[in-house]
Amino acid sequence: MNKPTTSVRKSKPATKAANAAKAAVKAAIAGVQGYLPPDVLTNAELAQMVDTSDEWIVERTGIKERHILKGKGLGTSHMGAQAVAGLLAKTKTAPHEVDLLICATTTPDFVFPSTANLICEMCGIRSIASFDVQAACSGFVYALTVAAQFIENGRARKIVVVGADKMSAIIDYTDRATCVLFGDGAGAVLLEPSKKFGIIDTLICSDGSGMPHLHQKAGGSRLPPTVETVEKRLHYVHQEGAAVYKFAIARMAEVATELMKRNRLLSEDIDWLVPHQANRRIIEATAERMKLRPERVMVTIHKYGNTTAATIPLCLWEYEQKLKVGDRLLLAAFGGGFTWGGAVLTWAYDRAAYDRAACDSPTANGE
Ligand code: ACO
Repeated sequence: MNKPTTSVRKSKPATKAANAAKAAVKAAIAGVQGYLPPDVLTNAELAQMVDTSDEWIVERTGIKERHILKGKGLGTSHMGAQAVAGLLAKTKTAPHEVDLLICATTTPDFVFPSTANLICEMCGIRSIASFDVQAACSGFVYALTVAAQFIENGRARKIVVVGADKMSAIIDYTDRATCVLFGDGAGAVLLEPSKKFGIIDTLICSDGSGMPHLHQKAGGSRLPPTVETVEKRLHYVHQEGAAVYKFAIARMAEVATELMKRNRLLSEDIDWLVPHQANRRIIEATAERMKLRPERVMVTIHKYGNTTAATIPLCLWEYEQKLKVGDRLLLAAFGGGFTWGGAVLTWAYDRAAYDRAACDSPTANGE
């Protein structure tokens, strides 16, 4: 395996006491909620806008349609807030109980304040720490990794982690190479401490030499907006698809197999692969490298396209009914930067627990 340029790995506990403390508390997902804007953009509609076809898009990417956020003045925070409001209601969490909110996004409403700040305001969550994490399509895995530390070290008991992106705001709908790939959406999870279930290991990596292959050329401090940057259409996603594809295939498989190896997991130990949804072929290649059967792989790309930081929480939301307490999940993502990362976790609740309202919190199972 190539050594990643940047790697944040769990440090080894220095003492027996630290080891025991680490074993005692895991960050468990206690609920998940998604939000997709109501407007749907189909392949047939895109074929009327650019020189493409439903056949090409389905064959090369697996995407059939994607959701697009329309409406004046609505940004990523709108979708994030919808997901968070639903999550709080579903998990019976009052806004004042939330200790920290982290939002992974590449399409913030503003350069500042952060989208996390805006989501808190919209959901009545006040006076807590909230911030954005920017790691493109790996953003949710990065944010989850950061959030888990706060639960594990006892600094927080309820953390909301959001993945939300309005990719339609930075997509050039005259560029067939990118406009067919992306959609808008948001997903949010609630993390709580659990002694039994939760995040076992995470691995996040980056390689800044990937910038030329996938980035937005203008709008940042290097090339602030001018009439010229707008006229040259530099405020959109620039992607060299083939170069990114090669890297994505290698890194997704690498992070998944590395996490399996260092946690001594065989393919039969993984109940679900939760992959970033950029291209169906990348998802299938990753599953193949892990020797996982297709029915163990979460796939939503056909309906939602690539929603960047939202793909993984949207997968969890979509498959929530199928997940059982104790299921072992492996999350794997790859994105601009380049960034990539993954997580191994055990699922903490049965969806029916909400329906029965049998317990105050699903992680009550695991505490
Ligand atoms: N319709 C029809 N033809 C198209 C389209 C389209 N929508 N897009 C490209 N083509 C053409 C190209 O022009 C090219 O034609 P040419 O051979 O005449 O030059 C041909 O199809 C092949 O183009 P490629 O780019 O080589 O197509 P490829 O099979 O690689 O598929 C794709 C393109 C889907 C973009 C793929 O490369 C991919 O999935 N890349 C990785 C994406 C990814 O993982 N991104 C990271 C996450 S995104 C983020 O972080 C924000």
